[in-house]
Amino acid sequence: VNLPPTIAASVERWLQDNGGVDLRENTGRLTGTYKSGGTSARVDLAAYLATRTPATFAAVGKALAEAARAAPDVSPSDVLDVGSGAGSATWAATSRWPGIASVTMLDNDPRFLRLAEELSTKALPATTRARYLLGDVGAALSQADLVIASYVIAERPVAEAAQLAKSLWSATKSMLLIVEPGTPSGFERLLAMRKALLSSGAHIAAPCTHTKACPMQGGDWCHFTVRLQRSRLHRHAKSAEVPWEDEPFAYLAAVRDAPIAARGRILRPPRINKIEASFALCTHEGLQNLSVPKRNKDLFKRLRKLDWGDIIPEENQ
Ligand SMILES: C[S@@+](CC[C@H](N)C(=O)[O-])C[C@H]1O[C@@H](n2cnc3c(N)ncnc32)[C@H](O)[C@@H]1O
Repeated sequence: VNLPPTIAASVERWLQDNGGVDLRENTGRLTGTYKSGGTSARVDLAAYLATRTPATFAAVGKALAEAARAAPDVSPSDVLDVGSGAGSATWAATSRWPGIASVTMLDNDPRFLRLAEELSTKALPATTRARYLLGDVGAALSQADLVIASYVIAERPVAEAAQLAKSLWSATKSMLLIVEPGTPSGFERLLAMRKALLSSGAHIAAPCTHTKACPMQGGDWCHFTVRLQRSRLHRHAKSAEVPWEDEPFAYLAAVRDAPIAARGRILRPPRINKIEASFALCTHEGLQNLSVPKRNKDLFKRLRKLDWGDIIPEENQ
């Protein structure tokens, strides 16, 4: 999942104009800040744009794809992107639904809001109206069909997560998507938010395929990965040889209308060999292992293409 060419070009241009010679050093500092649980308050914008924005775009894009699969009737005409940063979650939403008529990016850091505005002319479809609001994720929010909070709850204490979920949900007309780093602490926040959302009457479209208590145990945490290509500048900033990276992420998509049922979601890379395909699943009956012998030709053929993060449709019993 990569930035669309027009957005990538406008990011590249901004970085050429604003990314100083110390991009590598600033990226090192940014990585250190996030790894130690720090916030975005003083991170270097160029380092964020070169290295984090493509990754958060990819994670939100993948999460939206899974949410839309479970809730195909959702077709938002407006978006509220809370803690928008440079706007990558908004770009992922308008890439999926180009008909979105208006977007609101809300952030408590004026530097990020200015950056989002500078990039928007090229990054958003010409017909999309955009607003940039200086505000707090915890404040009263205006309503939108699609509300996204991407990598922002991580910057608030865990104890606030449930209340923030309720507030985001009351701003949601159709779908709420929360994306967090794919770490135990990202998962801890999502778990608290899931409970709060279910008690507010939300349906979970993804990744959960049921509304029972989360069966993750023993220090394990529900997360996924998405692969993205690194641009030349991204490679330079990270002193990286490899032209791609895998972004670990965790997410939760809540919807107003009941989603399409599924048998379960694949929680790890499937193991496929000459004898069988085997899948670690989260299902409404808890964590299960599904093994499909190769001699069960039809089912094997259907399931072998599935990957970590995909659902097993309900008819595949
Ligand atoms: C890690 S960045 C994520 C940006 C973007 N959503 C993305 O996925 O790339 C976190 C963003 O949340 C903003 N933020 C942090 N705390 C906030 C708060 N309490 N209210 C609003 N925005 C906040 C930061 O300024 C920053 O832009």
